[in-house]
Amino acid sequence: MQHDKVLVLDFGSQVTQLIARRVRDASVYCEIHPNDVSDEFVRSYAPKAIILSGSHASTYEDHELRAPQAVWDLGVPVLGICYGMQTMAVQLGGKVEWSDHREFGYAEVRAHGHTQLLDGIQDFETPERHGMLKVWMSHGDKVTVLPPGFKLMASTPSCPIAGMADEARRLYAVQFHPEVTHTLQGEAMLRRFVRDIAGCKGDWQMGSYIDEAVAKIREQVGDEEVILGLSGGVDSSVAAALIHRAIGDQLTCVFVDHGLLRLNEGKMVMEMFAGRLHAKVVHVDASEQFLGTLAGVADPERKRKIIGAEFVEVFQAEAKKLTNAKWLAQGTIYPDVVESGGTKTKKATTIKSHHNVGGLPETLGLKLLEPLRELFKDEVRALGVALGLPPDMVYRHPFPGPGLGVRILGEIKKDYADLLRRADAIFIEELRNTIDPATGKSWYALTSQAFAVFLPVKSVGVMGDGRTYDYVVALRAVQTSDFMTADWAELPYALLKRTSGRIINEVRGINRVTYDVSSKPPATIEWE
Ligand code: XMP
Repeated sequence: MQHDKVLVLDFGSQVTQLIARRVRDASVYCEIHPNDVSDEFVRSYAPKAIILSGSHASTYEDHELRAPQAVWDLGVPVLGICYGMQTMAVQLGGKVEWSDHREFGYAEVRAHGHTQLLDGIQDFETPERHGMLKVWMSHGDKVTVLPPGFKLMASTPSCPIAGMADEARRLYAVQFHPEVTHTLQGEAMLRRFVRDIAGCKGDWQMGSYIDEAVAKIREQVGDEEVILGLSGGVDSSVAAALIHRAIGDQLTCVFVDHGLLRLNEGKMVMEMFAGRLHAKVVHVDASEQFLGTLAGVADPERKRKIIGAEFVEVFQAEAKKLTNAKWLAQGTIYPDVVESGGTKTKKATTIKSHHNVGGLPETLGLKLLEPLRELFKDEVRALGVALGLPPDMVYRHPFPGPGLGVRILGEIKKDYADLLRRADAIFIEELRNTIDPATGKSWYALTSQAFAVFLPVKSVGVMGDGRTYDYVVALRAVQTSDFMTADWAELPYALLKRTSGRIINEVRGINRVTYDVSSKPPATIEWE
């Protein structure tokens, strides 16, 4: 890869990934590595610029963490953010006052010194014509003495040194967080830093990335064969489309239908990949096997384990039939890979694992091909669109690996799954078709995840002249940016009314619909 690269050194902030996101939004490639990488690593990585992240928002045990000496010796521009500013101050001869009390919040910062970083970037001016920025800032620890060669770049009344710069050495630092959207000009500042100050080319674009990725896959795989577990989700779909573009029929996709998919999902996946892309897809209908093993099991975690284990078994059996395959492809993306949490020795703060085919490469003796490993989710989506996948597929809400298995409370039965599938499809259709006049977007786009849940309880209803005694579904729709916390969505009553009317009329067997008004925490997004 010949891209200009930015190195983000992570001191353990919860928002380090956002720094990398913003840099890539400026069309510049970057990677996150722990703050305690070696000097040799920093030199051989050959970054055009370095950014030092913040640290945990609430703990002070870490204030001994430092950046490798090579960061200062390389002569490339460095931007310190929050903790990154403090370590820059300490390492270059300034002073920091540490405190165990930290406040995190909105602040108005005054710009000083006409630095290149902030030149022309401001939110408003005071009557005295001082340029002001609206930012998200952590107070508490403060730089109290500037290192030699530095000048003041920003201040607030409670944090007199909120930014500093040594422009001759192209070293900049801010106490606030330009990577979060609450800092209105944050994206402009990071763009200024990587593009103008560091001079990185804006050559990280998904359209042109395809050629590069295709060439890399061809080189890696040669004339060997690859198998990939297609789930219908965004990541495995984009991985399949990309690998297919690179090696065509050397790729075989295996699509396992566990009987707990959404309405018409199997058909859609087959039409897309076998029909339109002409990829080789093995469609395994294992629904009877899955539902059989799950019979009588009500505990959510046991259901998850069974579905996971069964999936591995079915996939493995199919993979063994493809005797020429030397590679197993997976749709692993950057947030699944990157270690957040600073030092290599410390436990990572967040590790997400949805490895549907976990452990498979070893048992099958296959090499692992992960062409999306360096991409963030929105980049994966942009790549999918550039590869010609339908935007509807690429911008779908996430769907859990165990599928409807965790949306049918308690024991899973085929009848329940059939009712739920139809109710869910009606809800999703109404969300897609209802446009919010204020934003011009559909309610599907305005929610992060929405679905129906099957409740195996019966309630009394009346239909025509008759009494009914049927099942209940709950509708769930949430808004979230990270799925760690989520608010229930304030859907319009008219949309809820249409949805419940349609479900009760069109899905015989359901006579009552409720809407879930619980946020996460303390509820979770899924009901199980
Ligand atoms: P919760 O319910 O924990 O869900 O608030 C957070 C996000 O994770 C998804 N989820 C799963 N995904 N396997 C998956 O692949 C699972 O077992 C699983 N459980 C929850 C959920 O859909 C939401 O997006």
